[in-house]
Amino acid sequence: MARKKIRWMDGAAPFLCVFLVSNFILSKFSMIPCRLVLLAALLLSRDADALQVIGGSVTVVQGDTATLPCHVTDTNDDLTQITWQRRTRAKPHNDNFITIQPGNRLQFVRGHDDRFKYIGNFNNKNGTLQLSNVTLKDEGSYTCIFTLFPSGNQKTEIPLNLLVPPFTNIKDNLPTLGTEEVLFATCTAAGSKPPAEVRWLTGALGDKVRTTTISTQYDNDTTTTVSSLFGVPTREINGHQVQCVISGDSLTKEETLPFTIQIYFSPTEVNISVISEDSFECVTEANPNANFTWSRSGQSFMQSAVKEEGAKLQLLSLTAYLNGLYQCEAANSYGIKHGQLYVHVASGACSAAWASFGLLLSLDVIGATWFFYKSGCFQKCLQQ
Ligand SMILES: *[C@@H]1O[C@H](CO)[C@@H](O)[C@H](O)[C@H]1NC(C)=O
Ligand SMILES: *[C@@H]1O[C@H](CO)[C@@H](O)[C@H](O)[C@H]1NC(C)=O
Repeated sequence: MARKKIRWMDGAAPFLCVFLVSNFILSKFSMIPCRLVLLAALLLSRDADALQVIGGSVTVVQGDTATLPCHVTDTNDDLTQITWQRRTRAKPHNDNFITIQPGNRLQFVRGHDDRFKYIGNFNNKNGTLQLSNVTLKDEGSYTCIFTLFPSGNQKTEIPLNLLVPPFTNIKDNLPTLGTEEVLFATCTAAGSKPPAEVRWLTGALGDKVRTTTISTQYDNDTTTTVSSLFGVPTREINGHQVQCVISGDSLTKEETLPFTIQIYFSPTEVNISVISEDSFECVTEANPNANFTWSRSGQSFMQSAVKEEGAKLQLLSLTAYLNGLYQCEAANSYGIKHGQLYVHVASGACSAAWASFGLLLSLDVIGATWFFYKSGCFQKCLQQ
């Protein structure tokens, strides 16, 4: 609580008090220099004075409601008016903006502002105001002035400080596979007052990553802090979890934003795996995940004989109609790769499908899968 005491010469009572006390001291200790005695008397009178205007210092989070406390104590003077003045970011010149008259009658001096509410009581010499939906523009100094009789105007100044919590976010810089250090992501705390602290928790990654932080302060005293996370975009670092932690006086509690480091790359080698006797799956690695499309070389699919479901291809009936080369295309926004499957359904009881990897792309058969429709066929076909 900020207390403002009445100056000793302002009223008749303190003056009388000083006069009596100093006379008393002078008569008792006439050897003490006069000036020293008067000083002592002055100090005594300060302790004994009465009227006080009680205010305070207010700190509030933007958007909340602020109470601007102000009342007078220890006086029997008559109160004729309470006046509020302000000097804010929006209005840098101190001027009257509210007056309160007997009967709790509140009047705006220049323009009405619904956000102000008088919550004091005139009869109790209480001028307390409430201000809702506080914005940064309201920050400044508020002065309440009591017009008293006979002691005159008494006032106190109430500073209003604003806390502005930041807007926070993480932006993925979408790094692609490489061998040079690049920016992975930025974590931002925008428009904080006072400035927020932004840091990364990178756990096990240790010195595989590096961070830098930059702050920019604006004219309205808010600060934007940006922390950047750098590293070499390898496959190993892909998928690692890190966190950005934002803290500071403007936040009631620390904010933690989780982030998964993603290294983006086009589909790698496309392999075709055999799921069961008549179904196959296209397999690749890609980030983001690849979309798969099956097609038949030179011919359209016979929908009645083949079912395609994403990465999977199912042969619905094992007939010679299906013989031929099938292609699986794996694609994401970074690239496209193909894989081939050769299906050969032998006449009679024995059918086979042959899958090869990257056949058309490199003419280098990495692997092949023989598939046999009926048990007992394996030996027979192998002997052929
Ligand atoms: C304060 O803000 C709220 C929400 O934005 C709004 O509904 C309300 O009317 C505002 N109050 C005043 C007094 O402006
Ligand atoms: C402060 O100033 C910055 C830059 O002009 C602006 O983006 C931001 O919205 C302001 N903040 C407030 C709370 O007015």
